[in-house]
Amino acid sequence: MDLSTTYMGMKLKNPIVPSASPLSETVDSVKKLEDAGAAAVICYSLFEEQISHESGELDHYLSYGTEAYAEATSYFPEPEEFKLTPYEYIDHIANLKKAVSIPIIGSLNGVSTGGWVKYAKNIEDAGADGLELNIYYIPTNPNLTGSEIETMYVDTLKAVKENVKIPVAVKLSPYFTSMANVARRLDKAGADALVLFNRFYQPDFDLEKLEVVPNLILSNNFEMRLPLRWVSILYGNINASLALTSGVHSSEDIIKVMMAGGDVAQLASELLLKGHGRITELLNGIEEWMTENEYDSIDMMKGSMSQKKVGEPAAFERANYMKTLQSFKTLL
Ligand SMILES: Cc1cc2nc3c(=O)[nH]c(=O)nc-3n(C[C@H](O)[C@H](O)[C@H](O)COP(=O)(O)O)c2cc1C
Repeated sequence: MDLSTTYMGMKLKNPIVPSASPLSETVDSVKKLEDAGAAAVICYSLFEEQISHESGELDHYLSYGTEAYAEATSYFPEPEEFKLTPYEYIDHIANLKKAVSIPIIGSLNGVSTGGWVKYAKNIEDAGADGLELNIYYIPTNPNLTGSEIETMYVDTLKAVKENVKIPVAVKLSPYFTSMANVARRLDKAGADALVLFNRFYQPDFDLEKLEVVPNLILSNNFEMRLPLRWVSILYGNINASLALTSGVHSSEDIIKVMMAGGDVAQLASELLLKGHGRITELLNGIEEWMTENEYDSIDMMKGSMSQKKVGEPAAFERANYMKTLQSFKTLL
């Protein structure tokens, strides 16, 4: 049974890649991920704020559209609240590389083209096999157009690419007016992979304290539908590899990712809930499914349910919206 796949030019033994999360915070945990069968590991992110809390470039972006800059920055953790300094993060990558033989992908999380992007080179020098660039930006300024924001994404990618030779993936949110166009622009700007989609954590209100509070809830597999649709649509239309993140919990979910045209399935919530050993169960489940359904390799199923390959391409478009609504049977 051949479970291998190719992601950002890297040959991986299977499509299971633990995504950026606290599971990569210790060498011991990453070793356990490797032992359980993970094909590669994305390290949790080094944040722009960690690198350039003082940088004028970041200030420019953060104060854009905010009337009170001091208030805006007060939401950021103070440098001492971060678990590691930027240099400790780089050392951590080097230590992970020494401890395991699977590829280690570093992660940078930011929005500007400021000096912080030079850390991409430090991550490369520490031995990372690739880099994931997580661009997390909530545009609240009504004067900022969609096109300007997209250019900001492309410029950030280009700035990072200029600093490194290792492959660079871009982890995106789904909130674009023209997702396919953004994907193509990033592809043309040299993205080696697109990671669909970043999960935005919506804050909640604490009614006792009348405060806006952060609230992290782990995913469920219903959330996979949105990235699944976009992986299906983008497959065969861009050169970059495709990774799916958000809502992957079962072996069947991973098979769906492959059939949509994804090259890897990234997992965080499922592994945080069930532990490192869950990877072995998922791999066994994939093999069982492939045996029952007579697939010899992951390559055989890649993209087989993508928009290009399915008999009814409109299933991914507006036409299916009406059909979906009409298919609902009321229980009343
Ligand atoms: C506790 C926690 C920490 C995370 N830290 C990061 C991070 O540092 N960088 C990043 O790009 N994504 C981070 N993520 C997002 C995950 O990598 C993943 O994209 C998201 O959880 C959706 O996948 P899932 O449904 O498998 O959880 C984090 C998620 C969780 C739950």
